[in-house]
Amino acid sequence: MPNQIATARAHPNIAFIKYWGNRDDRLRLPANGSISMNLAGLESVTTVRFSESLSADSFILNGQPQVNEALVRVSDQLDKIRQLSDASIRAEVISQNNFPIGTGVASSASAFAALTAAAVAALNLQLSEHEISALARLGSGSASRSVPSGFVEWYMGNDHQTSFAKTIAEPDHWDLVDLVVVISTMHKEVGSTGGHSLANTSPLQSARIADTPRRLNLCRTAIQERDFDAFAHIVEQDALIMHAVMMSSNPRLIYWLPTTLAIISEVAKWRATGIAVCFTIDAGPNVHLITTSDYAEELRRKIAELNDIQSVLLARPGGPVALMETHLKE
Ligand code: PMV
Repeated sequence: MPNQIATARAHPNIAFIKYWGNRDDRLRLPANGSISMNLAGLESVTTVRFSESLSADSFILNGQPQVNEALVRVSDQLDKIRQLSDASIRAEVISQNNFPIGTGVASSASAFAALTAAAVAALNLQLSEHEISALARLGSGSASRSVPSGFVEWYMGNDHQTSFAKTIAEPDHWDLVDLVVVISTMHKEVGSTGGHSLANTSPLQSARIADTPRRLNLCRTAIQERDFDAFAHIVEQDALIMHAVMMSSNPRLIYWLPTTLAIISEVAKWRATGIAVCFTIDAGPNVHLITTSDYAEELRRKIAELNDIQSVLLARPGGPVALMETHLKE
């Protein structure tokens, strides 16, 4: 059998309407739908090589061989793809991220989108974007959103096939910019997989879920109409509702640092002076400032004047997961 090898590249994404909590943890069927934007410039590039000569799966991330949890998660994802072709053949996975881990940009989304697309191609499975998105979801929920292009909606669905993501607008539809303000790169105590399972311990989660269709509609329309004011309002409200759930879980999850709150209050002041900007925050202390191209440089200068900022990453709307030529060192 020839070498079964493929390489894929995927961007991470930032959610404007967040996913928090699962209806089914094993299948990662989310408690609610979500909307995001892929982040161009940031990427995971992953090569998967299946070979009869391998006795076990292996996984190298940024040049470091991975063991335990990280390897098991990759191997579990490969099992789901192997099942589709009745194959038991083992694989070597080599992945490179061009953005640092712990910067508030979740690498699991781009990692599982790239891994899934590369493994599917290496095994020569003919799957649609919809099917690849649903498969990527099994590795990390938000990875389903890194499969389609640009501005994306993940439909919660009610089973494996119906829970997938789809483009709502291509990257060139709106010149939004995500300025990721890195406050801390410390490893968080509770990652998103653990966090999702705590969501239902908050008495606020049921209200968050019940209100999600309203927030999804407002956000989708604001994107379609490029209405920044409407967009800013719903994106900030959604992030605050998710953090209210996190903070009121048992045990509680407080991801913010004092600087997180300081930036939230600066954003309100900047917006009052006419700058198109809003914030969103994932499961960590770092703040994503969403703006348009026109204001990106001015905001960068303003951020540089703040205390306790480690770095700022800049990302524009990105394309879909894509297959690439494989370049492996012999
Ligand atoms: O896909 P996960 O398990 O890494 O969860 C993502 C959770 C948030 O980043 C907080 C929200 C989201 O929708 O991306």
